[in-house]
Amino acid sequence: MRKTVVLRVDSEKPDVEKISKAACFIRRGGLVAFPTETVYGLGADALNAGAVVALFEAKKRPLDNPPIVHVSDVKDVFRLVREVSSEAEALMEKFWPGPLTLIFRRSKAVPSVTVAGLDTIAVRMPRHKVALALIRASGCPVAAPSANLAGKPSPTSAGHVLDDLDGRIDAVLDAGPTIVGVESTVLDLTICPPLVLRPGGTSFEVLREVLGVVELSRVALAEEAVSVGEVRSPGVKYKHYAPDAGVVVVEGELGAVVERVKELVEVYRREGSRVGVLCTDETRAYYKEANVVLSLGSRSDLATVARNVFGLLRQFDREGVDIVVAEGLPTEGLGLAVVNRLRKAAGYKIVKA
Ligand code: TXA
Ligand code: MG
Repeated sequence: MRKTVVLRVDSEKPDVEKISKAACFIRRGGLVAFPTETVYGLGADALNAGAVVALFEAKKRPLDNPPIVHVSDVKDVFRLVREVSSEAEALMEKFWPGPLTLIFRRSKAVPSVTVAGLDTIAVRMPRHKVALALIRASGCPVAAPSANLAGKPSPTSAGHVLDDLDGRIDAVLDAGPTIVGVESTVLDLTICPPLVLRPGGTSFEVLREVLGVVELSRVALAEEAVSVGEVRSPGVKYKHYAPDAGVVVVEGELGAVVERVKELVEVYRREGSRVGVLCTDETRAYYKEANVVLSLGSRSDLATVARNVFGLLRQFDREGVDIVVAEGLPTEGLGLAVVNRLRKAAGYKIVKA
């Protein structure tokens, strides 16, 4: 156990002294959680192999699942990668800083542990002022997976970070809740056409507008568990985003979904379980029989739904729920990322209504 220092900072004008205190930990090989626009990340000096090993240990993350390396300037990418294509340049120009992670072939400057022994590296420049200030003050690229224990829902507040990692990391920069709520989109540029490995804060539709041709991996849809041999993104083969409660997702036409959710609530209650329903404003009134009903927001506002999803999954655990029945959602825009997280949280237990 070590003492985890909480450093409260303003999200727009982060206190320089607190940022430099946090950066000091990073420079000395320590671990600092910090907000990005998507979720909180757990940062370590990406070029310090010992620090990165400590990062994996703190998260209890398997060593074969590499973190994303965060930069504060496009020019920092060049020392990390072997080649920057004109396509990559156009994407960085258009989407950075922002929730888009690009996979490149990596340079020799990057320690093998940072990329889990792969020949490629995931890089992104976040849009949050605190994240950018921390990376700049640290003077190094910052490896940062989401700041949760492996397998748990990603943290969208400093409180979530402390729930999982208090006593395991040096500090957390607390700048309040994050804006986007789901992680960055991961786009593999080492193959042609480019392939979305994880849907996230930058929508597939918008990428297609810019790239013309871009594919969505089967794994990104998360309709079913995919065998390990088919996996290009190491993270996808592990259990993810799961609260302690079991999760089932019910998908289909909305009227049928509501009926099926109600049926399942009845079945689980009869078995003696404490049942939660994860629904939307439009449908919450239908689930009076459930023990805990939490709404993601309106179905017509998927940005709000995305912002709420991880926090609500954690709340079911705080409310002592045994099983969560979740409504499926539209897969347009940010909806695709939310549906992907729900399907994975459910361990692919998807009921078609
Ligand atoms: O929004 C985000 O992306 C957040 C914030 C903190 O920036 N970070 C995040 O990191 O979600 P993490 O480590 O939890 O997820 C990184 C994902 C994993 O699925 C991992 O397998 C994949 O990116 N990844 C990392 N390096 C890769 C590589 N070289 N090739 C393919 N996938 C890679
Ligand atoms: Mg993660």
